[in-house]
Amino acid sequence: MIWEAQAPSNIALIKYMGKQDAKRNLPDNASLSYTLDKLITTVILEPIESEQDRWEPLVSSSGDHPISLTQLAVDRFLQHLNLMKQQYEYTGSLIVRSKNNFPQGVGIASSASSFAALTKCAVLALSSLTDRQPLSDQAQAQLSRRGSGSSCRSFYRPWCLWEEDEVSVVTTPYPCLIHQVVLVDCEVKLVSSSEAHQRVRTSPHYAGRPARAQSRLINLLEALNTQAWDRMYEICYAEFMDMHRLFETASTPFSYMTTRCKDLLEAVATYWREKKDGPLVTMDAGATLHLLYRPDQDKLAQTFKETVLKKHVVL
Ligand code: PMV
Repeated sequence: MIWEAQAPSNIALIKYMGKQDAKRNLPDNASLSYTLDKLITTVILEPIESEQDRWEPLVSSSGDHPISLTQLAVDRFLQHLNLMKQQYEYTGSLIVRSKNNFPQGVGIASSASSFAALTKCAVLALSSLTDRQPLSDQAQAQLSRRGSGSSCRSFYRPWCLWEEDEVSVVTTPYPCLIHQVVLVDCEVKLVSSSEAHQRVRTSPHYAGRPARAQSRLINLLEALNTQAWDRMYEICYAEFMDMHRLFETASTPFSYMTTRCKDLLEAVATYWREKKDGPLVTMDAGATLHLLYRPDQDKLAQTFKETVLKKHVVL
């Protein structure tokens, strides 16, 4: 018997950065994300005759990108599988295979889609193996959060709000956006997000961070609902810059804001200044830009790709 599940990644416009409870992955502030339906992790689970669970990359001929995980990442993934097995009081062993349809190590966080897909697949497999009811989406999101915080937002689409231990769908006038990921500087070394969550707390700017994020969240929800696209751009910009300032002012600082990122952000800002319109922009914990366009900006998305973004890999 084999079970398969898929889950999408998501991009936060109000960021989850800093935890009030690291064991349970409870955030210091609420976050708001847009679900990235095209960036997908697939997980397959199968029972094995073994003392231990095992992970392997899922190999396919469909042109998906093979994953290689560090031992630490494999342990974390299997630890989450174990948490799921405990929920179902299942003691047998399983082999877990996974793949992403996007490249690894380029600053696109795969933990959100990976842990959400593993949670979903474990629920399918374990409810069948133990003859129990599958868990609700909310219960699955709660469990997934324990593996990787941001993965809980991948259970809802197109917009998702995560506050304390509640995850919910948000209805907005923008149910469908065009998304581009721009791989700006792939060689920048990534600090793991668990490490980043700890380090930001040492920044002198962290004290006011939850309040700043909360006020931006309220303003962004209002801008979304009133379709104030320019206001959304300003809020999203201020928000990711705030997070990157925390990275750069932590007691052991780190930075993803390379010259090439700054140049590209300036090119987007210049476009906005000239046209009074443009894409939303955000950066996660990587030297990667995420651009979001309204459906009526489809031509702009194409033109941007061919002009402003032409020197970069765009997914
Ligand atoms: O879920 P984690 O622990 O990988 O943290 C994700 C943190 C950011 O991607 C930088 C921001 C976010 O809200 O997704």
